[in-house]
Amino acid sequence: MIDNGSLPSAGNNLDPWYSAYAKRTAGLAASEVRALFAVASRPEVVSLAGGMPYVSALPEDLVIGAMDRVMHEQGPVALQYGSGQGVPRLREQITEVMALEGISASADDVIVTTGSQHALELFAKLFLDPGDLVLAEGPSYVTALVIFKSYQAEVDHVPMDEHGLIPEALREHIASARAVGRRIKFLYTIPTFHNPAGVTLSWERRLEILEICRENGILVLEDNPYGLLYFDRKPPAAMRSIDEEGVVYLGTFSKTLAPGFRVGWALAPHAIREKLILANEAAVLSPSSFTQLVISQYLSEADWRGQIDTFRGVYRERKEAMIDALEEHLPELSWTNPNGGFYVWLTLPQNLDSKAMLPRAVTELVAYTPGTAFYANGDGAQNIRLSFCYPTPESIRVGVRRLATVINGELDLLDTFAGTGELRSIRPDAARTGTSTFPPTDLR
Ligand SMILES: Cc1ncc(COP(=O)(O)O)c(C=O)c1O
Repeated sequence: MIDNGSLPSAGNNLDPWYSAYAKRTAGLAASEVRALFAVASRPEVVSLAGGMPYVSALPEDLVIGAMDRVMHEQGPVALQYGSGQGVPRLREQITEVMALEGISASADDVIVTTGSQHALELFAKLFLDPGDLVLAEGPSYVTALVIFKSYQAEVDHVPMDEHGLIPEALREHIASARAVGRRIKFLYTIPTFHNPAGVTLSWERRLEILEICRENGILVLEDNPYGLLYFDRKPPAAMRSIDEEGVVYLGTFSKTLAPGFRVGWALAPHAIREKLILANEAAVLSPSSFTQLVISQYLSEADWRGQIDTFRGVYRERKEAMIDALEEHLPELSWTNPNGGFYVWLTLPQNLDSKAMLPRAVTELVAYTPGTAFYANGDGAQNIRLSFCYPTPESIRVGVRRLATVINGELDLLDTFAGTGELRSIRPDAARTGTSTFPPTDLR
């Protein structure tokens, strides 16, 4: 029996240890995304919710071949604990992957982690004290927000437009935070094919934002899972390619290979790298030797660049299916049109609430992620994240058609109850007044 004083009596019917948890766990509520996975996995529901890569586009025999060779040639090493920094050969290969995004780095500065999610967790653990402030785009990646909250930090969302984070807004947010004595620890940013907004930070803004952060002594955490998954043209080079000392860069094999391996990495300036290795060792001893060696083998023997091209083709087709369907079924709404990645960010008509509308959408057999999931402050009710990565183009068309039915139904309902006649159906055959703002000029 644990000696915890009066704790058992401070529990509740569901959990006798309720009051024993650390205060920081108060932030650990199931995210909207997580709750959705359960519902959306029913086969009759078209899920435009999750960000699951389409791993079926990866030929199984490539993976089986790599696994087979690893077990035959390096079995005892693959099944053993390894280095807390990661397999040296894989770290070399990771520098080749990053070179595709303009980054020149030494394998010594790479730390392999259990997905980039774990790199985010380790980074937060190193830098965040309760009450610290993290600057992040508004909206931002839901599970990063969960991590920052779990370290009792606050997130201040800086607005974006179709060119990504707005530099003047960043300056203003830094000044306002400093004016009230807040301690800004870092800027968390997803500059390329943003999750959830789908937009990409322009080259000029990359330079300007790095300059602002340098001037203000703010570290940049660049999270880049999607940069290699572009459709028509390459995105600007990674921010880390511009600034080696002020940027910690996160990468992953989850989207360019498969998330099931759980292999990602951080690239960090020397001192931070040392601390990250120690934190990695404390958390997991060493990342999985087996999956690291399989990926290393795959990178040595397979046409991995060609495989990334295949993924690009698959996602491009799905993105086009989604944009075509939105134009057909929801022509008066606005949305982002990404040049890569997995996500479209849709803006609903005023007065509609994406979270409140979700149960009705699921009844109509379509799921999405409400915009509120991507803000730490409750914003985002007028937005929806639509993922085009996993469903087939045909399912995407069906899903968007169902979504249009839901949105039109909600508008009709509002119209009926409001009785103002101001809200009208947005069905394409309905009278259209006003013009579509496509893409939206502002994601605030
Ligand atoms: C922006 C962003 N960062 C990090 C991750 C985590 O990826 P993983 O842990 O699979 O590398 C994801 C996954 O969707 C993501 O979208």
